[in-house]
Amino acid sequence: MSSKSILTDKHIILGVTGSIAAYKACALASRLTQHGALVDVIMTESATRFVAPLTFQALTGRPVYTTMWQTDASGGLGTHIAHVSLAHEADLLLIAPITANMMAKIAHGLADDLLSVTALASANRCPILIAPAMDVGMYENPVTLANVDILRSRGVRFAGPGSGRMASGLEGLGRFIEPDEIAGHCRRVLGMNGSLAGRRVVVTAGPTREPLDPVRYLTNYSSGKQGFAIAQAAVDAGAVVTLITGPVSLPTPIGVERVDVLDTRSMLDAVLVHATGDDPTDALIMAAAVADFRPEEIAERKIKKTQDPASMQIDLTYNPDILYEVSRQTRKPLLTVGFAAESDDLIAHAQEKLARKSLDMIVANDITAGDAGFAVDTNRVVFVMSEGIEELPLMSKEEVAQRIVAWVAEHQM
Ligand code: PMT
Repeated sequence: MSSKSILTDKHIILGVTGSIAAYKACALASRLTQHGALVDVIMTESATRFVAPLTFQALTGRPVYTTMWQTDASGGLGTHIAHVSLAHEADLLLIAPITANMMAKIAHGLADDLLSVTALASANRCPILIAPAMDVGMYENPVTLANVDILRSRGVRFAGPGSGRMASGLEGLGRFIEPDEIAGHCRRVLGMNGSLAGRRVVVTAGPTREPLDPVRYLTNYSSGKQGFAIAQAAVDAGAVVTLITGPVSLPTPIGVERVDVLDTRSMLDAVLVHATGDDPTDALIMAAAVADFRPEEIAERKIKKTQDPASMQIDLTYNPDILYEVSRQTRKPLLTVGFAAESDDLIAHAQEKLARKSLDMIVANDITAGDAGFAVDTNRVVFVMSEGIEELPLMSKEEVAQRIVAWVAEHQM
């Protein structure tokens, strides 16, 4: 189930300069296009030595610009001056990869090719995001570092560079970061003035894990997908997001501060630190599937199969209820949203939890449905509030996340 995202229908100019990393810009153009962005590629003359314009044209389904002297005859632009049209229509100017040379040109206002002219014409019209790619010596040269400072001071945003092995065989800072990460930076920049701009949101995700002995534990089937989608949707809306997660294998959305925890008590500690206290968060959204019980004792050594079956027993004890503990704090989040994973009497159980845990809203999901709840990519949820309920149809977890974030934005204090 494909969903709309902050990238859908956004007009992105992708500037590509002369670096071997230009081949990775093809994957980037493809990824942005798959997300529904309208990607217009401008290539410098040196970039065309590494990759053919036709490659980008095939991947984006749109014309590719390679010269200042191109008019609307091939591009269908709003005016016949390509750089003015492109800069006017863009939601974002992304230059990936950007060489030291292009950084220097933009830092000093030089404009002698279509990309540098477009960058100059973009000022105050759309944000500029750049992903550097160059050898460590070039990046760490004081000249380049001074240009980095100039660009930052003028509001240019950076995606990377990363550190690691480069095509030259050298290692260090200056490596082009991965296309998926750059797409994440695009989301962050496009969302920065969204409905939660400047607001702080804490999200929990994944399962908690309660150890039984050094090799075994009790847990549940939560994959973290729903919670991570909420964290991404909150970034897309401009929020400052902290994601407290149990053990899952998902990449961290760009722009999110991630706090990894294992068991319920460490998740409680992290939630109290990040969501309550002197400076409580604006919203707490608890999508984590928290283990309600833990073994009363953790065996120091691996429990052996040779043990007498008559003595095979695990005594359990209750874990703290995180949401209930949050509700008892004097300084708590302005809005608190919980989830209810239910296998029967969905609404009644959710209403009981809404009241008992002092929530503003609870997202009830029926975990008996094969296409909703744990581990799958879709969910079918009901928003339960004290004033009533809102049933949502089956949708992707990304869409559920966007609806929850929209609800938070509408109800923020
Ligand atoms: O991670 P996925 O694979 O994408 O699956 C998503 C999900 C099914 C895990 C998610 O949509 C969901 O329903 N999360 C809550 C699951 C759950 O633990 O529900 P609950 O009814 O046991 O708890 C109710 C609320 O209290 C939840 O917000 C939970 O985070 C919180 N809780 C629970 C126990 C506890 N000790 N402390 C808590 O704060």
